[in-house]
Amino acid sequence: MIIKSAEFIMSNSEVAKCPKDTLPEYAFIGRSNVGKSSLINMLTNHKNLAKTSGRPGKTQLINHFLINKNWFLVDLPGYGYARVSKTSKKKFQRFITDYFEERQQLVLAFVLVDIRHEAQKIDLEFMEYMGENGIPFSIIFTKADKLKPKAIERNVAAYLQELLKTWEETPKYFVTSSASAVGRDEVLNEIDSTNQQMNALKQN
Ligand code: GTP
Ligand code: MG
Repeated sequence: MIIKSAEFIMSNSEVAKCPKDTLPEYAFIGRSNVGKSSLINMLTNHKNLAKTSGRPGKTQLINHFLINKNWFLVDLPGYGYARVSKTSKKKFQRFITDYFEERQQLVLAFVLVDIRHEAQKIDLEFMEYMGENGIPFSIIFTKADKLKPKAIERNVAAYLQELLKTWEETPKYFVTSSASAVGRDEVLNEIDSTNQQMNALKQN
Protein backbone atom coordinates (compact mmCIF):
# COMPACT_ATOMS: atom_id res chain seq x y z
CA MET A 1 0.00 0.00 0.00
CA ILE A 2 1.25 3.46 -0.84
CA ILE A 3 0.89 6.17 1.79
CA LYS A 4 -0.23 9.25 -0.11
CA SER A 5 -1.18 11.36 2.87
CA ALA A 6 -0.93 11.27 6.64
CA GLU A 7 -2.46 14.03 8.75
CA PHE A 8 -2.72 14.59 12.47
CA ILE A 9 -6.40 15.12 13.25
CA MET A 10 -6.77 15.46 17.03
CA SER A 11 -5.67 14.48 20.52
CA ASN A 12 -8.17 13.46 23.13
CA SER A 13 -8.50 12.17 26.64
CA GLU A 14 -12.07 11.07 26.09
CA VAL A 15 -13.28 8.41 23.73
CA ALA A 16 -16.56 10.27 23.29
CA LYS A 17 -14.68 13.18 21.71
CA CYS A 18 -12.75 11.09 19.17
CA PRO A 19 -13.55 11.68 15.46
CA LYS A 20 -17.14 10.87 14.59
CA ASP A 21 -16.19 9.44 11.18
CA THR A 22 -16.99 5.81 10.63
CA LEU A 23 -13.66 5.13 8.92
CA PRO A 24 -11.84 1.98 10.08
CA GLU A 25 -9.07 2.52 12.59
CA TYR A 26 -5.98 0.68 13.77
CA ALA A 27 -4.56 1.29 17.24
CA PHE A 28 -1.06 0.82 18.60
CA ILE A 29 -0.74 -0.17 22.22
CA GLY A 30 1.99 -1.53 24.47
CA ARG A 31 4.31 -0.56 27.28
CA SER A 32 5.67 2.93 27.45
CA ASN A 33 8.80 3.33 25.32
CA VAL A 34 8.18 0.17 23.28
CA GLY A 35 8.10 2.25 20.09
CA LYS A 36 4.42 2.90 19.24
CA SER A 37 4.87 6.48 18.09
CA SER A 38 8.10 5.67 16.21
CA LEU A 39 6.30 2.88 14.38
CA ILE A 40 3.57 5.26 13.24
CA ASN A 41 6.23 7.58 11.85
CA MET A 42 7.98 4.70 10.13
CA LEU A 43 4.76 3.36 8.58
CA THR A 44 3.71 6.77 7.31
CA ASN A 45 7.21 7.83 6.26
CA HIS A 46 6.96 10.98 8.38
CA LYS A 47 9.74 11.76 10.81
CA ASN A 48 7.71 13.75 13.29
CA LEU A 49 4.06 12.96 12.75
CA ALA A 50 3.74 11.23 16.13
CA LYS A 51 5.84 12.60 18.99
CA THR A 52 8.52 10.23 20.27
CA SER A 53 10.96 10.36 23.15
CA GLY A 54 13.73 8.36 24.77
CA ARG A 55 11.89 8.83 28.03
CA PRO A 56 8.82 6.72 28.72
CA GLY A 57 5.45 8.41 29.11
CA LYS A 58 5.68 10.69 26.07
CA THR A 59 2.29 9.96 24.53
CA GLN A 60 -0.42 10.80 27.04
CA LEU A 61 -3.52 11.12 24.90
CA ILE A 62 -5.46 9.29 22.19
CA ASN A 63 -4.09 10.62 18.89
CA HIS A 64 -5.85 10.17 15.56
CA PHE A 65 -3.94 10.29 12.29
CA LEU A 66 -5.90 10.19 9.04
CA ILE A 67 -4.18 8.13 6.37
CA ASN A 68 -4.93 8.39 2.64
CA LYS A 69 -8.08 10.21 3.69
CA ASN A 70 -9.82 6.90 4.38
CA TRP A 71 -8.56 5.21 7.55
CA PHE A 72 -7.05 6.14 10.89
CA LEU A 73 -3.93 5.15 12.77
CA VAL A 74 -4.31 5.71 16.51
CA ASP A 75 -1.38 6.37 18.83
CA LEU A 76 -2.12 5.62 22.47
CA PRO A 77 -0.29 6.20 25.75
CA GLY A 78 1.73 3.29 27.04
CA TYR A 79 0.68 1.14 29.95
CA GLY A 80 2.90 -0.02 32.76
CA TYR A 81 4.84 3.17 33.27
CA ALA A 82 5.40 3.26 37.01
CA ARG A 83 6.71 6.80 37.35
CA VAL A 84 3.51 8.67 36.62
CA SER A 85 1.49 9.61 39.69
CA LYS A 86 -1.08 7.10 40.89
CA THR A 87 -4.01 9.27 39.84
CA SER A 88 -2.78 10.01 36.35
CA LYS A 89 -1.75 6.39 35.94
CA LYS A 90 -5.28 5.36 36.73
CA LYS A 91 -6.57 7.88 34.24
CA PHE A 92 -4.31 6.54 31.48
CA GLN A 93 -5.35 3.01 32.18
CA ARG A 94 -8.97 4.06 32.29
CA PHE A 95 -9.00 5.81 28.97
CA ILE A 96 -7.05 3.04 27.33
CA THR A 97 -9.67 0.52 28.42
CA ASP A 98 -12.51 2.94 27.59
CA TYR A 99 -11.02 3.31 24.13
CA PHE A 100 -10.86 -0.43 23.50
CA GLU A 101 -14.26 -1.16 24.96
CA GLU A 102 -16.18 1.71 23.39
CA ARG A 103 -14.60 2.59 20.09
CA GLN A 104 -16.77 0.98 17.43
CA GLN A 105 -14.49 2.09 14.59
CA LEU A 106 -11.55 0.05 15.88
CA VAL A 107 -11.05 -2.91 13.57
CA LEU A 108 -7.66 -4.17 14.70
CA ALA A 109 -5.20 -3.39 17.47
CA PHE A 110 -1.49 -3.98 17.35
CA VAL A 111 0.06 -4.91 20.68
CA LEU A 112 3.71 -3.94 20.57
CA VAL A 113 6.40 -5.82 22.46
CA ASP A 114 10.15 -5.23 22.50
CA ILE A 115 11.78 -8.12 20.69
CA ARG A 116 14.77 -8.08 23.05
CA HIS A 117 12.81 -9.10 26.12
CA GLU A 118 11.12 -12.23 27.37
CA ALA A 119 7.34 -12.13 27.56
CA GLN A 120 6.41 -9.67 30.31
CA LYS A 121 3.50 -10.24 32.65
CA ILE A 122 1.86 -6.90 31.90
CA ASP A 123 1.81 -7.58 28.12
CA LEU A 124 0.43 -11.08 28.58
CA GLU A 125 -2.24 -9.67 30.88
CA PHE A 126 -3.13 -7.01 28.35
CA MET A 127 -3.49 -9.62 25.60
CA GLU A 128 -5.66 -11.67 27.92
CA TYR A 129 -7.81 -8.59 28.50
CA MET A 130 -8.14 -8.11 24.72
CA GLY A 131 -9.14 -11.76 24.31
CA GLU A 132 -11.73 -11.55 27.09
CA ASN A 133 -13.26 -8.49 25.48
CA GLY A 134 -13.24 -9.95 21.99
CA ILE A 135 -10.97 -7.25 20.59
CA PRO A 136 -8.95 -8.51 17.61
CA PHE A 137 -5.23 -7.93 17.86
CA SER A 138 -1.92 -8.82 16.25
CA ILE A 139 1.49 -8.64 17.88
CA ILE A 140 4.22 -6.35 16.62
CA PHE A 141 7.75 -7.08 17.79
CA THR A 142 9.67 -3.79 17.81
CA LYS A 143 13.35 -2.77 17.71
CA ALA A 144 14.47 -5.72 15.56
CA ASP A 145 17.54 -3.69 14.52
CA LYS A 146 18.89 -4.30 18.02
CA LEU A 147 19.26 -8.06 17.48
CA LYS A 148 20.94 -10.40 15.01
CA PRO A 149 18.65 -12.55 12.82
CA LYS A 150 19.28 -15.72 14.86
CA ALA A 151 18.39 -13.99 18.10
CA ILE A 152 15.24 -12.59 16.50
CA GLU A 153 14.17 -16.08 15.50
CA ARG A 154 14.96 -17.45 18.94
CA ASN A 155 13.12 -14.70 20.82
CA VAL A 156 10.04 -14.87 18.61
CA ALA A 157 9.86 -18.65 19.02
CA ALA A 158 10.20 -18.33 22.81
CA TYR A 159 7.49 -15.66 22.89
CA LEU A 160 5.05 -17.77 20.89
CA GLN A 161 5.83 -20.73 23.11
CA GLU A 162 4.94 -18.65 26.16
CA LEU A 163 1.65 -17.58 24.54
CA LEU A 164 0.74 -21.18 23.83
CA LYS A 165 0.65 -21.80 27.58
CA THR A 166 -2.59 -19.82 27.73
CA TRP A 167 -3.79 -19.42 24.13
CA GLU A 168 -4.98 -22.18 21.84
CA GLU A 169 -3.54 -20.39 18.84
CA THR A 170 -1.04 -17.60 18.62
CA PRO A 171 -2.13 -14.32 17.05
CA LYS A 172 -0.61 -13.04 13.82
CA TYR A 173 2.67 -11.28 14.43
CA PHE A 174 5.08 -8.94 12.69
CA VAL A 175 8.77 -8.29 13.26
CA THR A 176 9.57 -4.60 12.79
CA SER A 177 12.19 -1.93 13.21
CA SER A 178 11.42 1.75 13.03
CA ALA A 179 15.11 2.38 12.55
CA SER A 180 15.49 0.19 9.45
CA ALA A 181 11.84 0.02 8.26
CA VAL A 182 11.86 -3.78 8.49
CA GLY A 183 8.28 -5.04 8.59
CA ARG A 184 6.79 -1.89 7.05
CA ASP A 185 5.30 -3.61 3.99
CA GLU A 186 3.95 -6.49 6.04
CA VAL A 187 2.10 -4.26 8.52
CA LEU A 188 0.75 -1.99 5.77
CA ASN A 189 -0.41 -5.02 3.75
CA GLU A 190 -2.23 -6.35 6.79
CA ILE A 191 -4.02 -3.02 7.20
CA ASP A 192 -4.76 -2.87 3.47
CA SER A 193 -6.30 -6.31 3.34
CA THR A 194 -8.33 -5.62 6.50
CA ASN A 195 -9.63 -2.40 4.91
CA GLN A 196 -10.65 -4.37 1.84
CA GLN A 197 -12.49 -6.92 3.98
CA MET A 198 -14.30 -4.06 5.74
CA ASN A 199 -15.35 -2.60 2.39
CA ALA A 200 -16.58 -5.96 1.16
CA LEU A 201 -18.65 -6.36 4.36
CA LYS A 202 -20.14 -2.88 3.89
CA GLN A 203 -21.25 -3.72 0.36
CA ASN A 204 -23.08 -6.87 1.44
P1 GTP B 1 5.28 6.27 25.00
O1 GTP B 1 4.65 7.30 24.14
O2 GTP B 1 6.07 6.86 26.12
O3 GTP B 1 4.32 5.24 25.47
O4 GTP B 1 6.42 5.49 24.11
P2 GTP B 1 6.30 4.89 22.65
O5 GTP B 1 5.90 3.47 22.75
O6 GTP B 1 5.50 5.75 21.76
O7 GTP B 1 7.84 4.90 22.19
P3 GTP B 1 8.59 5.91 21.21
O8 GTP B 1 8.14 5.68 19.80
O9 GTP B 1 8.47 7.29 21.74
O10 GTP B 1 10.06 5.36 21.29
C1 GTP B 1 10.75 5.21 22.51
C2 GTP B 1 12.25 5.15 22.27
O11 GTP B 1 12.58 3.96 21.56
C3 GTP B 1 12.79 6.30 21.42
O12 GTP B 1 14.06 6.64 21.93
C4 GTP B 1 12.90 5.69 20.04
O13 GTP B 1 13.90 6.30 19.24
C5 GTP B 1 13.28 4.26 20.36
N1 GTP B 1 12.82 3.34 19.30
C6 GTP B 1 11.56 3.15 18.87
N2 GTP B 1 11.50 2.23 17.90
C7 GTP B 1 12.76 1.82 17.68
C8 GTP B 1 13.37 0.87 16.80
O14 GTP B 1 12.73 0.21 15.98
N3 GTP B 1 14.73 0.70 16.90
C9 GTP B 1 15.48 1.39 17.79
N4 GTP B 1 16.79 1.14 17.82
N5 GTP B 1 14.95 2.29 18.64
C10 GTP B 1 13.62 2.51 18.59
MG1 MG C 1 4.33 7.36 22.15
